[in-house]
Amino acid sequence: MQNPNDIIDSEGRSIPKHIAIILDGNGRWAERRGLPRAMGHKQGCETLETIVADCARLGVQYLTVYGFSTENWKRSQEEVGALMKLFRFYMTKLIKVANEHNVRARMIGERSRFAPDIQEGICRLENETKDNTGMTFVFAVNYGSRDEIVRAIRKYTIEAIRSGKSEEEILALTEQDFSLYLDTAGMPDPDLVIRTSGEFRISNYLLWQSAYAEYYITPVLWPDFNKEELLKAIDNFNTRERRFGGRLKK
Ligand code: FPP
Repeated sequence: MQNPNDIIDSEGRSIPKHIAIILDGNGRWAERRGLPRAMGHKQGCETLETIVADCARLGVQYLTVYGFSTENWKRSQEEVGALMKLFRFYMTKLIKVANEHNVRARMIGERSRFAPDIQEGICRLENETKDNTGMTFVFAVNYGSRDEIVRAIRKYTIEAIRSGKSEEEILALTEQDFSLYLDTAGMPDPDLVIRTSGEFRISNYLLWQSAYAEYYITPVLWPDFNKEELLKAIDNFNTRERRFGGRLKK
């Protein structure tokens, strides 16, 4: 259903303001080809580059992708090592892609666990794209919603103690106030969450922010995801009647 403020593309579809993606299926993509899992992640990075550009061209305002979860450290040392290597390489590549498409990049997640050079790379990616005025590309790395919420509670509590907040002031905290302590502070909530590879799970992704998002699950593995699949997801989103807990409009 379209709203007056929606961005409408040349084919009449309403473009979601914020799309979030759980990119899944890299490992299976590689295994089906008899390749090491790392090759699936490499191909996944290539797909990510093209989808960032496609979303920017379509007029999406925020694209948030799940690159590495707080739980992904449990994978084999070899796989985590391969992902970190790719992360280093693609962060530099992403600066170029982002600048070509007027995209501002921002990271969410707890970055102190990454090696110092990766943390520097993250700062560089953010700094070198910060003046771009088009889409915001949000990369969730070492991200987990529960971790994010706990970190937000810690931040709020420390601030409350330091500033000597009264019980009355604490009880006045609203959902909107609290959201400013999350990594996604200042961003609109996702309208559409896409998950590739046919799994019906949220996997600790944007739990707070996706309270009223529309979900779209595709069996396509992330390395095979492309603009055509993205448009299918957006077309499906266009068929949804969003009620945000209210009643269906007659
Ligand atoms: C899911 O596939 C994907 C990941 C665990 C992360 C891969 C992310 C990227 C390639 C984007 C770039 C991000 C970084 C950090 C380089 P899977 O391995 O869970 O697939 P499977 O379910 O088929 O095993």
